[in-house]
Amino acid sequence: MSTVSVKNIDKVYQGKTHVLKDLSLAIESGEFLVLLGPSGCGKTTLLNCIAGLLDIEGGRIEIAGKDVTNKDPSDREIAMVFQSYALYPTKTVYGNMAFCLRMKKKPKSFIDKKVQETAELLQISELLHRKPATLSGGQRQRAAIGRALVRDAAVCLFDEPLSNLDAKLRTEMRIELKKLHNKLKSTFIYVTHDQVEAMTLATRIAVMDGGQFSQISTPDELYEHPANMFVARFIGSPAMNFVAGTLRLDGAKSILVTQEGLEFDVSHYPFVVRPSNGHQVVLGLRPESFHRPTGKGATYQLTNGILEPLGATVLYYCQLGGTDVVVSFNPSDLQGVKTDQALEVSIDLDALSIFDAATELRL
Ligand SMILES: Nc1ncnc2c1ncn2[C@@H]1O[C@H](COP(=O)(O)OP(=O)(O)OP(=O)(O)O)[C@@H](O)[C@H]1O
Ligand SMILES: [Mg+2]
Repeated sequence: MSTVSVKNIDKVYQGKTHVLKDLSLAIESGEFLVLLGPSGCGKTTLLNCIAGLLDIEGGRIEIAGKDVTNKDPSDREIAMVFQSYALYPTKTVYGNMAFCLRMKKKPKSFIDKKVQETAELLQISELLHRKPATLSGGQRQRAAIGRALVRDAAVCLFDEPLSNLDAKLRTEMRIELKKLHNKLKSTFIYVTHDQVEAMTLATRIAVMDGGQFSQISTPDELYEHPANMFVARFIGSPAMNFVAGTLRLDGAKSILVTQEGLEFDVSHYPFVVRPSNGHQVVLGLRPESFHRPTGKGATYQLTNGILEPLGATVLYYCQLGGTDVVVSFNPSDLQGVKTDQALEVSIDLDALSIFDAATELRL
């Protein structure tokens, strides 16, 4: 069992900067949990608290059911991969990987077997005799991951491990990490500010905003049912479109009327909070919830469009009513379309989100 439980923790730097505020999070054994949030929201701070590299001012941390709040990092059964790799420059890859096992006075034969096995897993067997300075960024990153994995820790912590790699290598390493997690089945806690990385890797994502969790859910749930506008903005690229409006409730009918007078029948929308007649709201529409050719039901006009072909999809920057929106189409949907003509579309009413305009929370 390698669960990690963070209970009501507080982290205050130098007695004045309150960075983590009463945070709680329960991570199950074998999860790939991603901590996602903008720069400065406290991701690294939280990871370092879990690792024991930082003391906390309040709360409790448990790993594998044991209270480790006051334990040293070396007694927490964790391994950590840093953004900067932090490899020992004078040691070879083998020396780097063997170091902590040597410190633990493991037998030489055990160390050799463990390093060789891990190197094979990460496809760096040929690099074991080389020093970090002679390796490429991706090879260094593999060596750093290898050094963490040889310890057989039940919990692996990663702080933006791919951020120093170029886009192509980052995608490759992302897939490698996912395979590695499937194979090892240990608990991964992974920090990133890249929402694509989070969506593709995570079993669950904890979205952080200003030292607190905004939502903790599966990637699909975050995408389809964002709990608030912060999460809706942060997850998805291009981002969700927002259109301001008012709700008109009339018996069983609920109509969302935008400021420009466009009407959306949201009678079947599963409101989590009962709205009132005249409620000021924000309608959230994902770029892919617009369709052509139009089916039955209400249609809408997109105007002032500019096309951005991306190969498999085309982004259409345009206006819905008077609001700027970005729509994603299949290229075949736009054949023969000229950018100066208005485009008639239907909108998938099952996929929309409605937020309270004042609190920004999902209704
Ligand atoms: N040693 C420190 N002393 C004082 N404030 C700190 C210290 N370390 C971090 N902070 C502050 O705490 C907040 C959270 O920092 P943290 O490094 O955890 O953010 P992050 O989410 O990892 O950001 P990034 O994505 O840029 O790495 C920031 O406002 C930062 O300025
Ligand atoms: Mg950080």
